[in-house]
Amino acid sequence: MLTPQKVLEALKHVEDPEIRKSLVELNMIRNIEVTDGHVKLEVVLTIQGCPLKAKIEQDIADALKEAGALSVALRFGTMTQEERAALTASLKKEASTTSGMPKILDPASGVTFITVTSGKGGVGKSTVTINLATALARAGKRVGIIDADIYGFSIPAMMKITQKPTMINETAIPVESHGVKVMSMGFFAPNNDPVMWRGPMLNKWIRNFLANTHWGELDYLLLDLPPGTGDVAIDVASMIPQAKELIVTTPHNVASYVASRAGAMARHTKHEILGVVENMAYYEDKDGERKFMFGRGGGDMLAEQLSTEVVARVPFAQPEDAIVESVYDEDSVAGEVFTELVQDVLLVK
Ligand SMILES: Nc1ncnc2c1ncn2[C@@H]1O[C@H](COP(=O)(O)OP(=O)(O)OP(=O)(O)O)[C@@H](O)[C@H]1O
Ligand SMILES: [Mg+2]
Repeated sequence: MLTPQKVLEALKHVEDPEIRKSLVELNMIRNIEVTDGHVKLEVVLTIQGCPLKAKIEQDIADALKEAGALSVALRFGTMTQEERAALTASLKKEASTTSGMPKILDPASGVTFITVTSGKGGVGKSTVTINLATALARAGKRVGIIDADIYGFSIPAMMKITQKPTMINETAIPVESHGVKVMSMGFFAPNNDPVMWRGPMLNKWIRNFLANTHWGELDYLLLDLPPGTGDVAIDVASMIPQAKELIVTTPHNVASYVASRAGAMARHTKHEILGVVENMAYYEDKDGERKFMFGRGGGDMLAEQLSTEVVARVPFAQPEDAIVESVYDEDSVAGEVFTELVQDVLLVK
């Protein structure tokens, strides 16, 4: 016979879709009543108007019907300020080591950090970041992106993300797109939807993205850095010394000359250089012939200067659905380049 205890048991495996923890563990299931197989209960959501309410409702109904419930009636409530504070504290505690360092930065966390840099703007850092991230996700990896280009953020637009992260007090739940978790200054831009983290914290964005964000388990965290060797790059270098660096350039020699400054920076900060990505390396015409419209040799020249290799050559290509977003289809020529980068370089290092 179905009892409240059995209802709790059955709901142990139903997770909050954002926090990715059991609803029971999060203390979101309350006031269970069971009468002749008919279940009534209250679901206490973290925030009012939780966008994933319908999904939670469906998941609970499915789990309880599976457990033999004849009907399921749900009532929704919202956590009190104190309950929310306790939840944030427990998420935060879980996310930091005993010394208070964000756990994600502890080398033992197993997260591989990859910074995507360039000496010059507009060479394709953001394009490389999102396509590399989606290729990693397709390979079954758990991936996050920090759009560390605080002033020139572009990832949300390029991935056509219109959602904002859910905030539980001061902890942000990253927005997911193409299987990748994303945090960007763009989510917090003034005039958009001012959330927490304002005022005196403005210079601490990268820290917020690392420490006050509920990333959950990750294999890779990619950081799309602003061009050049400014404050953000220095900050990231000191916070994440274990990061590996991908340097993006175009085939044009001048561009690669400037990009070498970012490489020099990597050597200075002791970031391991994974290699050079030559973007817009060629254009494949409809007969499959390669045209080198942006010059040639820049990637190789830069790789030589930095004693590394060109690990990918990305063709000039519009994504299938360019008006919609900047993510290449898996089976497009450019999409395959990123799959190879994942298989041949990232997964073997
Ligand atoms: N391989 C490519 N083929 C065609 N267009 C591309 C390619 N790579 C990038 N682009 C386009 O070039 C522009 C600049 O790319 P992107 O925004 O990725 O560069 P970025 O280095 O991140 O620039 P910024 O320095 O401004 O952040 C974008 O409009 C992008 O869609
Ligand atoms: Mg960019």
